[in-house]
Formats: sequence, C-alpha cells, structure tokens
Amino acid sequence: MKLSPAFLATAFLAFTSSAVAFPEYLARGFNIYPSSAATDTPLQAAFRKKVAEVKAGGDVFERRANTTRRNENEEYPRTIFSLLNPEAFDYNERDQYIDLTSDQHKFIAPGPRDIRGPCPGLNLLANHNYLPRNGVTTVAQAIDAINRVFGVEVELSTALSVYAAVFNGNVLDTTWSIGGPYTPTGIAGGVLDLAGGAEPQGISAHNVYEGDASIVREDYYQPGANNDNVHLNIQLFKELLELGGNDTTVGKDVYTSDLMLKHKSIRWEQSVQRNPLFYNSPFGGLIVTTAAERFVAEFAANNTAGPDGKNFIYLDEPNLLAFFGVTKHADGTLEYKPGQERLLPSWHRRPLAAQFGLGDIVLTLLNAAKTNPHLLSIGGNAGKVNTFTGVDVGDLTGGLYNTQTLLADPAALSCYLYQGFESALPSVLGNLYKVVDDALSLLNKNYNPVWHKAATANGNPCKSYQANLEKQSAKYPGSKVGNK
Ligand code: HEM
Repeated sequence: MKLSPAFLATAFLAFTSSAVAFPEYLARGFNIYPSSAATDTPLQAAFRKKVAEVKAGGDVFERRANTTRRNENEEYPRTIFSLLNPEAFDYNERDQYIDLTSDQHKFIAPGPRDIRGPCPGLNLLANHNYLPRNGVTTVAQAIDAINRVFGVEVELSTALSVYAAVFNGNVLDTTWSIGGPYTPTGIAGGVLDLAGGAEPQGISAHNVYEGDASIVREDYYQPGANNDNVHLNIQLFKELLELGGNDTTVGKDVYTSDLMLKHKSIRWEQSVQRNPLFYNSPFGGLIVTTAAERFVAEFAANNTAGPDGKNFIYLDEPNLLAFFGVTKHADGTLEYKPGQERLLPSWHRRPLAAQFGLGDIVLTLLNAAKTNPHLLSIGGNAGKVNTFTGVDVGDLTGGLYNTQTLLADPAALSCYLYQGFESALPSVLGNLYKVVDDALSLLNKNYNPVWHKAATANGNPCKSYQANLEKQSAKYPGSKVGNK
C-alpha cells in the first residue's frame, strides 16, 4: 500500500483537528477527557475491548494452544499475537509484496557520507530507499515508509516520527536523522531554533530515544563499550541465537514474541550486573528497548501462506541475520557489517489489515512487567553494578497509581506512561529549543492524540499528575542526556 501525499496530508490534518489541550496535564487533579469509541480505528477498538478483558482478569495476550501445525515444519511456539492477529487473515501475495529488488529499492550499502544508527528497522529502510539513502528523513517520509513496509499503524508511526523530530531533529523542517548529528537543509535558519545554535543530534543521542539494555548493542556507559551504543555486538547477537537454540531450520518460527520478551528480561538483568551507570530512561529505556524486542518478532518476521491459506508469520535465522546486518559464512562464522541491515528478497509484509499500533506496545510492556516487574521501572544503578533502584510509581504519580494498579489495567498503564513524559516536556524542551511553542504544538497535534486514545480507552479516567521526572532522574548517575 503506497500512501499518497494527499493521504498523508489528510492524516496529518486529522491529527491536527483532534487536538488535546496540552497545559491540562500540568495542573494536578484534572481528568483527561475520555475519547469516544465512535472515532476508534479497528486497532483502537481492539485495544478498548482488551482493556475490559484484562480488567476483568483476562490474559494480556490471548494465548493460543499450538494444537494445529502452522506450516509444514512441526510445532511452533508462537503464542503471543498482536491485537489484530496477522494469522486471522488470508495470505495475499500481491498485497503483501514489497519491492526489494528493483533499481529503486534494491539493497545498496550506505556510502561514507550516509548516516546510519542503532535502529535496524530504519537502517534497512534507508538501505532499500524507503527512507532517503543519506539517512536524514522528514516526518512524513518516515510515516509513509514505516506504515507501508512494516504495517505500523499510521497513528503510531506518526507519534514515533514526530517524537524523533522534536527530540532528535528539527521541528521547523520536521527532519531528523536515523543516526548521529546532521545539518538540516529544509528551511533556511531552521537549525537556529535549537538552543545554542546546536546541530540536531539524531536518534543515537543517549537517553532520549536510545537507551540501555538494548537487544544486541551495549550500553553507552558500559565499561569496555567505548561509548558505542550504535554498533551491534556480535557476542550479544550470538547469545540471542543461543536463546533460539541455534535452530537453523529455514521457515521455522524460532524468534517469536514469547522468546524476544524473555530476551528483554535477560538483557535488563545483564545491564544491572554489567553497567554501573545503567539507567532505564522513561522513553528510550522503558518503552523503546522493550518495544524493539517485540518489533523484531513482528516486523523482521516473514509472512507466507500457511497450510490453510491463512497468513503464516515466522522469523527464522536467515531473516533474523539479514535484519541485523549479519552474514553467516559457510564455516559458520558470523560477520556483522555496520549499517548493512536488509530484508531478504523473499520477505513479505504482514497483511494490510493486521496493522500494529500503540495498544500493542502497551500490552507488550504490561506483559514484560508481569514477567519481570523490574521492567516497568524508571531508575538505574547508583554508580556500582547490582545497585538498581527504581523510582516508586506512587512517588512519581503523587499516589495516583501503584505498580499493582498499572499491572491490572492497560489503560491505566497508558495513562501513567503518557503523562510521565508530558508533565516533564516543557522543561526538557526548554533545554533544547529557544522557543518551545513549535515543538509543543507538533507534539500536541501528532503525538498526544494516539496516547490520549490509549490512556482513556474504555472510559478510563486518566487523572493528571505532575511527575517531576527531571528531579527524580537526577539522582541516577547514568541519566545524563546526549553523547559526549
Ligand atoms: C520512527 C520510527 C522509529 C524510530 C525513531 C526508532 C528509533 C530507534 C532507536 C533510537 C533505537 C535504539 C534503541 C536502543 O537503545 O536500543 C531503536 C532500536 C531498535 N529499533 Fe527502531 N525506531 C523506529 C522504528 C522501528 C521499526 C519500524 C522497527 C522494525 C522494523 C524498529 C526496530 C528496532 C529494533 C529491533 C531495535 C533494537 C536494536 C538493538 O538493540 O539491537 N524500529 N529504534
């Protein structure tokens, strides 16, 4: 599905019209007005239904017993599926085809001046020219690419892309880089909007989008890592393969959501044990690194026809290797080529209707926290390994929530996450921009509405609180924002 510029403009305007009053969150005690079910997308409706089920004691994920074979390869362990389950839809070769081989979209390794960063998804989109090959994108280009190639719901791709432009890019021309610093060229003088005339730092900047306990990248402050939070660490990658039993069966669904969420918990504990300055930042740590584990299982996965003609989603070793830019030689040795992530020519996207959205991310976090409650903590080590303490949820929310209430209600969890950042925004943005109005207005129009929907799903009274995250974070020595 190609989104036309007209569609994108309409989508942008749609967000603009569903504005959420930003300053409301800054005063304690307001209810954020619940959203109406009438304007739900199919995914939001599915989330609303799931909220009611979980509150009534149901499972976070509808776990399917693997009584039926999902393709000709024996048994498959995937039991966690997204809200709009890709296996509920017929496989459609034509609709799910993505051009990865034409002159326009064939893989080309980045040149010396092209920017690449810590996100394999974005790197490969640039390598296949779905994002500009130079690694600098606009908000609209990223929304289109992520939705079209991976089936990320437009609301979520918009929120992800706008957040990158605001915190790692330039709000005046809406550009951002998928790696390190760059010079915006869109609007003359745009860069001057940033405090100190600084260049935008790109998504590699530590503790903004990028965080600790990543899948196969070391922590920025980890001893021995040389502040490299961008390149894949081959030892960590080998450990991921080991978790998958080093299973090389082609077409087998080895790297499932179940496996990747278990992996998240392992990586979190490793960071506590290895990095004295480990810090689980509110956005990059808590949300992005956990969501990224799920992204592997959902988006690196290939899709094909199952025995019954339904879509079969699976992630086997060849697709995993390509996604992470790793080549396996005939003698079994692994070689990582930085920035050379790709999709195999046989790769197909998930069904058009099985979009993946913010509700799926919230459920992923909820499931992760139920498996290992630490994963919901904002906090860090105190300068020595194994000294992790988290900010108490009750302290952060003025007693509105505690961990138990968050684990029992996906809408309450969304409300907590949403406001945790929102109340901190004006001061954070004040450090970044000379004038914060443009940045706030972009977030207000394009980032807040999707969170607002999730936070008030099923009539949840999302009460506002003043989180004062900056003050809470300051006590952790690894919480410093940005690269040296
Ligand atoms: C606007 C959209 C996106 C932005 C701004 C973004 C940004 C990032 C950032 C900053 C990281 C580093 C996080 C860390 O410290 O571990 C990251 C990691 C990751 N992202 Fe993305 N991402 C986006 C979309 C996607 C998509 C669509 C996919 C999947 C196709 C994806 C897959 C991943 C994975 C698997 C990692 C973990 C890499 C690792 O730790 O080895 N991302 N992303």
